[in-house]
Amino acid sequence: MLDDARILVTGGCGFIGSNFILHLLERYPDCRVVNLDKLTYASNHANLRDVEGDPRYRFVQGDICDGELVDGLMAEVDVVFNFAAETHVDRSLMEAGSFILTDVLGTHVLLDSARRHPNVKRFVQVSTDEVYGEMSPGARAKESDPLHPRSPYAASKAGGDAQCNAFFETYGLPVIITRAANNIGPRQHIEKMVPLFVTSAMRDEPLPLYGDGRQVRDWLYVEDHCRALELIAREGEPGEVYNIGADNQEENIRLAKALLQLLEKPLSLIRFVEDRKGHDRRYAVDSSKLRALGWAPQHDFLSALERTVQWYQENRWWWEPIYAGPFRDYYQRQYGDRLASGVPYDPEGGTPQ
Ligand SMILES: NC(=O)c1ccc[n+]([C@@H]2O[C@H](COP(=O)([O-])OP(=O)(O)OC[C@H]3O[C@@H](n4cnc5c(N)ncnc54)[C@H](O)[C@@H]3O)[C@@H](O)[C@H]2O)c1
Repeated sequence: MLDDARILVTGGCGFIGSNFILHLLERYPDCRVVNLDKLTYASNHANLRDVEGDPRYRFVQGDICDGELVDGLMAEVDVVFNFAAETHVDRSLMEAGSFILTDVLGTHVLLDSARRHPNVKRFVQVSTDEVYGEMSPGARAKESDPLHPRSPYAASKAGGDAQCNAFFETYGLPVIITRAANNIGPRQHIEKMVPLFVTSAMRDEPLPLYGDGRQVRDWLYVEDHCRALELIAREGEPGEVYNIGADNQEENIRLAKALLQLLEKPLSLIRFVEDRKGHDRRYAVDSSKLRALGWAPQHDFLSALERTVQWYQENRWWWEPIYAGPFRDYYQRQYGDRLASGVPYDPEGGTPQ
């Protein structure tokens, strides 16, 4: 399926998409990859600078909502991986229109083009465990669970998933949906929690931790995610959904403490700040369906975190310029007031209620 395939990757200049393109080009010497990316604030052209001269790789700047552009690319490929999305929950609370455009309409444009191009043999929709909504303690989402998205971001991704189901049922388009847990690893934009915390700590700035910091996420190293996507494209069943999670469930406060320890920075950098509105308390996925295909994660929580921290330590050139750009305005808007009224971590006092 992938050996000598022509592959369209959308959103390949973002975090997971760039890791995936590098993974594909390394694993499949005879594949060819077209990367369609709009280059939003979340992207970084430098993510793929190592393969810019590779004749197997082509970059096209553009929007997945542009049907004409998409049709032209779709005619040339066998497999599609749709990573392109607006992805930041906090931004979706400020403005959700762009999420609906890209995550719902953009997915629809891609699907509609793919169904008119029988050369497309697989369409992999890269979705998220957030579409299931929050999980009660001990529960893990199964693929057959009803969707209960609770943020505008999760709702827009669920809309994309619903489009995928409709195109499989109506036109028999060979679509597979994947729903991964929270990823960590190299090249994630610094406004997301883990890179924000790592780079803030390296700058001796406070780590704004939402609420009581007891929210649980199921951390997945990005390389494990890439291996899962590759396997699902090859061995997965069209029309099916596959959860991707490594069973690395940790509270945000434990994550913050662990990364401060790795960086040898004081815990007093942690600031408890006003919580995100509607913040899902806990996510966790059951990925036994994927494991039955032969996948197993290679990184536990600590190994994933160590590698991530090390990458940001070794690649200051990548993230330092972002602090000097428009990110500052976003940071001020999101955390300015929160930090001003934040509560510093007190090792004796536990977490605020
Ligand atoms: N990051 C996670 O923890 C996580 C977990 C599960 C699923 N996902 C999903 O994986 C995918 C990739 O996530 P990420 O964290 O790498 O995102 P990201 O925000 O780092 O990158 C998104 C990329 O999509 C591009 N893009 C945005 N709108 C576009 C459009 N209209 N047309 C073309 N390109 C566009 C951006 O320029 C950027 O390069 C998303 O679909 C996301 O929902 C992410």
